[in-house]
Amino acid sequence: MSTILQIDSSPRAASISSALAAKFVEGLKKKDPSAVVYHHNTTNEKLPYVDESALGTLFAGIEPTDEAQKQLLALSEKLIEEFLAADEVVVAVPMWNLGIPASLKAWVDLISRPGRTFKYVAGGGVETLVQPGKKVVVIASRGGAYPEGSPWAAYNQVDPYLRTIFAFFGVTDVNFVYVDNQNRSGDAPAEGLAAAEKQIAALIG
Ligand SMILES: Cc1cc2nc3c(=O)[nH]c(=O)nc-3n(C[C@H](O)[C@H](O)[C@H](O)COP(=O)(O)O)c2cc1C
Repeated sequence: MSTILQIDSSPRAASISSALAAKFVEGLKKKDPSAVVYHHNTTNEKLPYVDESALGTLFAGIEPTDEAQKQLLALSEKLIEEFLAADEVVVAVPMWNLGIPASLKAWVDLISRPGRTFKYVAGGGVETLVQPGKKVVVIASRGGAYPEGSPWAAYNQVDPYLRTIFAFFGVTDVNFVYVDNQNRSGDAPAEGLAAAEKQIAALIG
């Protein structure tokens, strides 16, 4: 029995990235009907940002002293357990102002905890606490296109950040599915969608 974690981050009911993530999960479920699926929308669930009072609890292992800290710690633990358990993680992300929506960063901040997903080691380095074998698929929709080698590539801050933070967790099996040109006119949006759907079908296998 496999475990799938779907993380959506667009607030839009007609979200392209979330719809494709749902298709991907549906395809995985067809292959393994017994798969357990955890599903969040980081924006609609209003994942909290880490404030000063929570820093000690989340990042220095200090026992929570009030209800708000207890709740944040419990939420962080739940999200980490889901992430650690997942064989496949699918992240649906609309490009917002060249990067990821703030709420998706809030999810990262809640699962990135010393002693849980990574540990500091003597000499200043870090080691992952995430078991090997986890796969991540990022479905990134965007109004334009940022092809490698083009002058626009450097504007794309979605991929470099997500690739680096997953590598920090020890997860290097990360595939990106781009849904390009969704805010352009003419055939470009449909072509971008068709290319992404083809890539998703190939990833489901
Ligand atoms: C607040 C906001 C900021 C955006 N910034 C960018 C951007 O920097 N570059 C881009 O190509 N598209 C940008 N877009 C367009 C979205 O990335 C695009 O419409 C995408 O398909 C939305 O994904 P969704 O359907 O999953 O919500 C932006 C859209 C919004 C709402």
